[in-house]
Amino acid sequence: MTTIKIRQNGPYLIEGDDVTVVDWNGAAYPIARRPVALCRCGASTNKPFCDKTHSRIGFQAAEAAVSGSEDKPAQ
Ligand code: FES
Repeated sequence: MTTIKIRQNGPYLIEGDDVTVVDWNGAAYPIARRPVALCRCGASTNKPFCDKTHSRIGFQAAEAAVSGSEDKPAQ
């Protein structure tokens, strides 16, 4: 089972042994460590991976799951 955990004011943490991150061509990135942390703040110098820059820049994101709400499509 794969779980994507959204860290408060931090990256997307992808937990699972069979996780592969691929680029738009389908080429796999080497995974240095697990769980995989993908940048959510946009400031990493190692995208798509988190390099902890979010802490230095004070990235804040307050969204949280709300029980009973439905996902909305992007507009
Ligand atoms: S979320 Fe960690 S560097 Fe962007």
